[in-house]
Amino acid sequence: MNPKRIVIAGGSGFIGSALARKFTQRGYAVVILTRSPRARQDGVNEVAWDGRTPDAWTEQLDGAEAVINLTGKNINCPHTPQNLLALTASRVDSVNAIATAIAGCKTPPSVWIQASAIGFYGDTGDKLCAESEPKGVGALAEICGAWEAAFSAANVPETRKVTLRIGFMLGRDGGALPILCRLVKFYLGGEAGHGRQYISWIHLADLVQMFVLTAEQPRFFGVFNAVAPDAMTNAEFMGELRKTLHRPWSPPVPEFAVRLGSRLMGSEATLMLMSSCCTPERFLASEFKFQFPNLKAALTDLCLKNS
Ligand SMILES: NC(=O)c1ccc[n+]([C@@H]2O[C@H](COP(=O)([O-])OP(=O)(O)OC[C@H]3O[C@@H](n4cnc5c(N)ncnc54)[C@H](OP(=O)(O)O)[C@@H]3O)[C@@H](O)[C@H]2O)c1
Repeated sequence: MNPKRIVIAGGSGFIGSALARKFTQRGYAVVILTRSPRARQDGVNEVAWDGRTPDAWTEQLDGAEAVINLTGKNINCPHTPQNLLALTASRVDSVNAIATAIAGCKTPPSVWIQASAIGFYGDTGDKLCAESEPKGVGALAEICGAWEAAFSAANVPETRKVTLRIGFMLGRDGGALPILCRLVKFYLGGEAGHGRQYISWIHLADLVQMFVLTAEQPRFFGVFNAVAPDAMTNAEFMGELRKTLHRPWSPPVPEFAVRLGSRLMGSEATLMLMSSCCTPERFLASEFKFQFPNLKAALTDLCLKNS
C-alpha cells in the first residue's frame, strides 16, 4: 500500500522543516510546495509552485491525506505600507490557490490545516485571549483577519478545516530565540520597553505535536491558539532567559533603543513591544499533553541541551 501523502505548502521554512521530518518519521510521503524546489536525499519531494497560481502542483493534492499551508512572507521585516501589502498578499493568495486546487480534486484531502498567528488579537494588553475573542486592531490583526477570512471563504465541503493561531515559536535553529540568546550573552538581554507586554510562546516540539494531532484526529476542527499555557511578560521572559544563560542582570532596553535596533536590523519594533496574552483554551479542553508547559523547562531544553 502507498504511504499516505501530506502536502506542506511553504514547507521549506522553520516550521515546515520540522513538520517534514516528523511526518516522514511517522511514515507519510511528504511533498513540499516551494518557489525554489531542490532534489533532497531524505525522501521529501519538493514541487514547484509560485504560491498563487493553480497549475501542475495541484495534482499533488488529489488523494492526499492532508494539506498544511504555512506560506507567507516573513513577518520579521519593517512594516512599511509596501511590505504590509506583500505580507497579506503572500498569505491570502496561497489560501485562494489551495482552495481552487482542492475544488478540482477527485478525492479532496481529508484535512486542511492553515497557519495563522496570535497577531489576530492585536495588542491584547494584559487581557487573556481565548479563541472566542474577536479580531483586534492594528497591522498584524488586519493581516491575520484577511488570511483567516480567505480560509473561511474556501468552499471545500469534503475537507475538515483547522486554523492554528501560532504564538512566538521557540526553537534551536531558527526564529528569534537564537538572536535573543546572543543578545543575553553580550549583556544586552534586558527587558524591552516597559517590559509589561506579554509574550505567548510555544516550544517547537509542542507545535509539531499540535500539527500531528490535528492532522490525524478528526475530532479537531476550527480555530486553536497554538501557544503554551504560560504567557509571560517580556520582563519575566527575559529574566528567565538570563537565568538560564547565567547572566543575572542586563540594563533594560528603552523603547527608543528597541525602535532604533529594529530599524538597524531590518526588523519591526512592534514585534517586541506589543502585548500578546493568549491561552490555548481549546487544546487544554482537549487534554493536549504539553511536553513544555512552562518556560523554564522550554529554555533549558533549547538553550542548554544539545539536539
Ligand atoms: N515562526 C513563528 O514564530 C510563527 C509565529 C506565528 C505564525 N507563524 C506563521 O507560520 C507560518 C510558517 O512560519 P515559519 O516560521 O516556518 O516561516 P518561514 O520560515 O518564513 O517559512 C515560510 C515559507 O513561506 C514561503 N514564502 C515566503 N514568502 C513567500 C511569498 N511571497 N510567496 C510565496 N511563498 C512565500 C517560503 O517558501 P519558499 O521560499 O520555499 O517558497 C518560506 O519557506 C508563516 O505563515 C508564519 O507567519 C510563524
